[in-house]
Amino acid sequence: MPFITSSYLPFFSFFSLFAYLRLSTCAINPDKVSFDQNYYNTWGFYHFSSINNGTEVRLSIDEYSGSGFMSNHTYGSGFFRMRMKIPNKDSLGIITTFYLTSQQNNQPAGNHDELDFEFLGGHGMPYTLQTNVFSNDNGGREERVALWFDPTADFHTYKILWNQHQIVFYVDKIPIRVFKNNTGIGVNYPSQAMSVVGSLWSDTTWAAHGQQINWTQAPFVAYFQGFNINGCLKDIDSTSQCNSTHYRWNGPRYMGLDQTEIVAYEKVRRKYLTYSYCSDRGSLHPECPRRTLE
Ligand SMILES: *[C@@H]1O[C@H](CO)[C@@H](O)[C@H](O)[C@H]1NC(C)=O
Ligand SMILES: *[C@@H]1O[C@H](CO)[C@@H](O)[C@H](O)[C@H]1NC(C)=O
Ligand SMILES: *[C@@H]1O[C@H](CO)[C@@H](O)[C@H](O)[C@H]1NC(C)=O
Ligand SMILES: *[C@@H]1O[C@H](CO)[C@@H](O)[C@H](O)[C@H]1NC(C)=O
Ligand SMILES: *[C@@H]1O[C@H](CO)[C@@H](O)[C@H](O)[C@H]1NC(C)=O
Repeated sequence: MPFITSSYLPFFSFFSLFAYLRLSTCAINPDKVSFDQNYYNTWGFYHFSSINNGTEVRLSIDEYSGSGFMSNHTYGSGFFRMRMKIPNKDSLGIITTFYLTSQQNNQPAGNHDELDFEFLGGHGMPYTLQTNVFSNDNGGREERVALWFDPTADFHTYKILWNQHQIVFYVDKIPIRVFKNNTGIGVNYPSQAMSVVGSLWSDTTWAAHGQQINWTQAPFVAYFQGFNINGCLKDIDSTSQCNSTHYRWNGPRYMGLDQTEIVAYEKVRRKYLTYSYCSDRGSLHPECPRRTLE
C-alpha cells in the first residue's frame, strides 16, 4: 500500500479516490511525519525532547519524572504503528509503552478499553514485551514474549491492527498476539474511541518484582519515530462508521491472519511466549481455550 500523510481516509467517493491517488503518489515516508502533526507531550515536559526536525522524540526518566505523549485525536479502528528504541541500560522497573486507550487524559480509568505494548526493563537480553487488552473492564489479560532481538540496539516497528473482527499486535511484520471479536461467547470487545499514547515510566511493584530501580544508571532514554496514524477519526465525527470496509484495515484481508502470518504467529507462540493469562486465569476469560483438567 502507498503511504498517505493524512490520518483521515474519507469514504471513497469517486472524487476522494482521485484525491487519495494523488496523495499516494507523493509517497510520503510515514517515518518522516512530524510529531506535532498528530501528537503532543502530556507530562514530564523536562524529560521530553523532539529531535531530527520533529520526526523523532526522546523521552527520559530519572528518579524525579518520566514522560509521555498522546495523540490529538481519538480513533475508532485502524493500523497504529510506532517505531521504538528502548532504554539500553540495566533497566529493571523501567517501562516503555505504546498503547491505545479510551481513558481521557487525567480522568479515572473506569471500565475503559485499552490495548498495550509494554517493554519491561531488565538485566539485558532477552527483553520482555508484555501486551494487555482491556475491553470495558480491568484487563487482566497480560501476555509476555521474550524478544528474539535486542530492542535497545535499533528501532523496530510495533503495530496494532484494530477492526471489528480482530485486534492483532505485531512486532515488525510478525503477529505476536491476536484478540478476536468474541462477543458471540460473551467477551467484551473494544469499541470506545481511543487515543494513541507513548510513555516512559517506572514501577517497582509488578515490573521490578519488588526490587529497587538502580537510579545511578539514570537517565534511562527511549526513542520514538513514525508519527503517521492510519486510523478512523472518531472525535472529529462521532458518527463515522469506523467499521466501514472503505477503510482498508476493515477489508476481507484483515478479518484474520493470512497464511504467512499464521506460520510466523505459531512459531512465536511456540518459541517465545513466556506467559499467558489463560494459563492461570483462563477460567475467568471465556476467550481462553478450555482445558479438560480444569
Ligand atoms: C523540517 O520540517 C519542516 C516542516 O515539518 C519542513 O518544511 C522542512 O523542510 C524540514 N527540514 C528538513 C531539513 O528536513
Ligand atoms: C494538539 O494538542 C495540543 C494540546 O492541546 C495543542 O497544543 C496542539 O496545537 C495540537 N496540535 C494540533 C496539530 O492540533
Ligand atoms: C463484534 O462482532 C459482532 C458480530 O460480528 C459485531 O456485531 C460487533 O459490531 C463487533 N464489535 C465491535 C466493537 O466491532
Ligand atoms: C547500579 O549501577 C551502577 C552504575 O552502573 C553499578 O556500579 C552498580 O553495581 C549497580 N547497582 C546494582 C545494585 O546493581
Ligand atoms: C457497522 O456498524 C453499524 C452500527 O453498529 C452497522 O449498522 C453496520 O451494519 C456495520 N457495517 C459493517 C460493514 O459491518
